[in-house]
Amino acid sequence: MSAQAEQDPTAPDEVARALADALADIAAAGTLGELKAARVAHDGDRAPLALASAHIGALPGAERAEAGRRVGAARARLREALRARQAELEAERDRQVLLTETADVTLPGGRVLPGARHPVTMLADRLSDVFVAMGYEVAEGPEVEAEWYNFDALNIPPDHPAREMQDTLFIAGKNGTSASGIVLRTHTSPVQIRSMLTRPLPLYVVSPGKCFRNEALDATHSPVFHQIEGLAVDEGLTMADLRGAIQAFVEAMFGEGLRTRFRPDYFPFTEPSGDVAMECHVCRGASAEPGGDPCRVCKSQGWIEIAGCGMVNPRVLVACGIDPDRYTGFAFGLGIERGLMIAHGVTDIRDTMEGDVRFSRAFGTEI
Ligand code: DAH
Repeated sequence: MSAQAEQDPTAPDEVARALADALADIAAAGTLGELKAARVAHDGDRAPLALASAHIGALPGAERAEAGRRVGAARARLREALRARQAELEAERDRQVLLTETADVTLPGGRVLPGARHPVTMLADRLSDVFVAMGYEVAEGPEVEAEWYNFDALNIPPDHPAREMQDTLFIAGKNGTSASGIVLRTHTSPVQIRSMLTRPLPLYVVSPGKCFRNEALDATHSPVFHQIEGLAVDEGLTMADLRGAIQAFVEAMFGEGLRTRFRPDYFPFTEPSGDVAMECHVCRGASAEPGGDPCRVCKSQGWIEIAGCGMVNPRVLVACGIDPDRYTGFAFGLGIERGLMIAHGVTDIRDTMEGDVRFSRAFGTEI
């Protein structure tokens, strides 16, 4: 009987020990995972106090009420201890999360070097802006262009040397394989044709963009370069309007009061054609005077050639369906890298395309 009493799980000692074990494990649980294990061990179906509870029904009737109270009180304390420890450990976990996920706003930030817009892009935009301010629109055309736009419509004859493979990069259709081949555009002038064919008159456009020629790269030549083209078609336009547009643009680019010079030249798509030179913005012509100091920028010529220009050839107007008896036009084109080199004393065109950010940064970091 006494041995049986010792094994009675509802006996005060047994209950007290089971509770003490449970409270010790709960107190020792340092993590929510450990607490979960303690809960299973001490409050699970097979836990000593659960077994004690199940045993109550097997006790003699007189003992049941007291044993029930004893075991019930122990289980209530056990659960309260579990709840309290659970709350503590959750609070601790939340505190750790706040600590480890804290951002120290006083730490120095990671340094991202600022980029710089490429000087060729900046100059192209600046030149475009000068004309946009005069009422021109910016037009764009494809870099891979039909031979017809690049040459035929611009009155460049089939046997013109510019159409040879040694000058022009053909994508398709050279040597009679098709009526009109595909080229990498050799100038921005085909955008003149595209503009006249698609836009209403009167027409005032500028078109900056990339051009390609079959040329070896050296300090002054590049197979890839940029031009900006201007075109105006309206009633009553004359060379005086062309001069005025060029003068306004040179002054905006290089400074007020610089003189411009027009000399006859030849381009198939303009008639008459001219080349535009501006007074050297560095020596202002002094280097060309007798006894003047030599000037690197204009090579002591006093003038710097900057653009080709002319009155749009009536044949070009006709090719675009424009009545040359009613409308006249003027056009001009210039190299952007060349303009950049002249304006900033860049002596090697390769500097403009190698992508070294130190070169770009020297021009400032306009965004
Ligand atoms: N397209 C010519 C070239 O690449 C430049 C040019 C000259 C454009 C005269 C023009 C122009 O619009 O009128 O050399």
